[in-house]
Amino acid sequence: MSSNLFEDTDSILSEERIFPPTQEMVDNANITAYMKSKGFDEYEAFYKWSLENRYEYWDDMAKELHWFEPWQKTFEWTEKPFFKWFVGGKINIVYNCLDRHMETDVRHKVAFHWEGDGGETRSITYEQLYVETNRLAKGLQNLGIKKGDRVAIYMPAILEQIVAVLAVARLGAVHTVVFGGFAASALRDRIIDAEAKLVITADGNHRGGKLIKLKQISDEAVAETPTIEHVVVYNHQQLEVPMKEGRDIYWNDLLADVPADTVVPCEPMDSEDLLYILYTSGSTGKPKGVVHVQGGYAVGAYATTKFVFDIKDDDIYWCTADVGWVTGHSYIIYGPLMTGVTSVLFEGTPAYPNPDRWWSVAERFKVTILYTSPTGIRGLMRFGEEWPAKHDLSHLRLLGSVGEPINPEAWMWYRHNIGHDELPIMDTWWQTETGSILISPTIIQPLKPGSATRPLPTIEADVVDKNSKSVGLGKGGFLVIRHPWPSQMRTIYGDPARYLTYWETLPNVYFAGDAATIDKQGFIRVQGRVDDVIKVSGHRLGSMEIESSLVSHPAVAEVAAIGKPDELKGEHVKVFVILKNGFEPSDELAKELKLHVRTTVGALAVPEELEFTPSLPKTRSGKIMRRVIRAKELGEPVGDTSTLDG
Ligand code: WTA
Repeated sequence: MSSNLFEDTDSILSEERIFPPTQEMVDNANITAYMKSKGFDEYEAFYKWSLENRYEYWDDMAKELHWFEPWQKTFEWTEKPFFKWFVGGKINIVYNCLDRHMETDVRHKVAFHWEGDGGETRSITYEQLYVETNRLAKGLQNLGIKKGDRVAIYMPAILEQIVAVLAVARLGAVHTVVFGGFAASALRDRIIDAEAKLVITADGNHRGGKLIKLKQISDEAVAETPTIEHVVVYNHQQLEVPMKEGRDIYWNDLLADVPADTVVPCEPMDSEDLLYILYTSGSTGKPKGVVHVQGGYAVGAYATTKFVFDIKDDDIYWCTADVGWVTGHSYIIYGPLMTGVTSVLFEGTPAYPNPDRWWSVAERFKVTILYTSPTGIRGLMRFGEEWPAKHDLSHLRLLGSVGEPINPEAWMWYRHNIGHDELPIMDTWWQTETGSILISPTIIQPLKPGSATRPLPTIEADVVDKNSKSVGLGKGGFLVIRHPWPSQMRTIYGDPARYLTYWETLPNVYFAGDAATIDKQGFIRVQGRVDDVIKVSGHRLGSMEIESSLVSHPAVAEVAAIGKPDELKGEHVKVFVILKNGFEPSDELAKELKLHVRTTVGALAVPEELEFTPSLPKTRSGKIMRRVIRAKELGEPVGDTSTLDG
């Protein structure tokens, strides 16, 4: 963590535009119905109530799910900061995703429309997903997989990836999904850490036209892991792959004798039993295995999907993330399936074969809710407005963003070009560790570009100093949450000491490393990771603010800002700039960009150094890895790069 950690962050970005909801949105929102049932018609008053009645709120949410046995106690803070939710309850999240829909009309509804990288499509109903999940669960049972076993899933974004996740959880086994683009070493380290017995993979797949040989990579990884007993291979591309006798088995062979009416009952799990381990990068050392449990996670993912995305029966919902990161877990698989919505699953990349691929997918499937990332938006902005303009996006009614602060410029572009100047954007702040969205508007609240706005019900978010004291409105500090929530991680797998740092870095609060401010109107603006904060002449600047200024210049597509040691100023700003198509690097342009920062944010933030670059190191989920850029720039060790893309 940065040595600057215990100082305030100065806020240099000011944003005055506010977009209120329409009366129609307010009247029809899922959250309005719930608020009314509690006697409220206004969010802020309801939010205050929720802080004082958090157990009532979460009981209400949990009661909308199916439990094999009810919980006896909503929350228990046993040995601080370890805690439990829905104590004594028995549940299986997969029962809530599939089985209970078999008794309603959802049974015949499409669960997923899938589109492959090359344009092929398939759709699967809830009933078919139920059948395939049961069959695979039986196959896995035949391989000896049982409650508590760890299973690594290393697959492309295909329907079988979802079937695999659900089949594992159905048995009460623990999945660890590894993004199907990670290298062999990343897969190996995760298998070793989780002590997985089984890998489920595919022969290979295409992404952006490029072939990824998953089975080959998985073989390399498995060769160095002592715990793997079997490898199940789904034949997605009909590639010839080596199969190791006794260890490897084709998915189709495993299921050859498993009839379609096979039912493997969902394992009744304790609320606090493990559901999954998902690895996320730490700045040093090995990746952290974030542990999520069945009960609280199910309730959190369900409630946030329902309220933030305002899911209705006839929606077509598309989250562009990959199942290999937490957004895919909570908002491609579990949350949406629990609500019974129809979703889109897309295997390809945003700009292949053309920069309108996403807009074409959204048009053809008549997508109504689109949840994507700032990096996706910025990446497509650079190709120009003509690409989305080719498509009929009139079915869309709600937009979402996650993963990074969304620069006001990108926010406005998103609203204008994708949201036909009227759609609300849910800028959702959360983390792998939080399991579900914590700070986000709902469809009934006013929006401000670049701000995740307000905490969701019961979430006691604050911006504090090093003593966990509120810094007050308009001041920068550390973004913290004061009380646990159901979907929160329970520990770091095999490393509880590392879990403690989240609760012990600042006294008595959950702190996971972001800097933020709350402005005079109460809007929360996340400024980025504390590690990425730059300190110039005693002022702490969020990397996001400098980057936002540059992204608002017409020539600029993407930017990374880092701090470099400076004898005079402590640190000075260096920026790496990717230009939009049609712009060429030049000294004049560099000068113009610096002037642009001076006029939009002020002299303090003007980059001393500006370098044009064709690309930036990013995580697989699209976050710019400023830590890696800084280390390279300063000739320091880069630390854990297992999540680095490319
Ligand atoms: C950042 C992704 C600003 C933040 C779900 C957080 C955001 C980290 C936002 C977690 C947002 C995510 N505004 N920053 N709306 N969403 N972040 O674990 O720094 O991949 O701590 O989870 O992403 O990233 P993770």
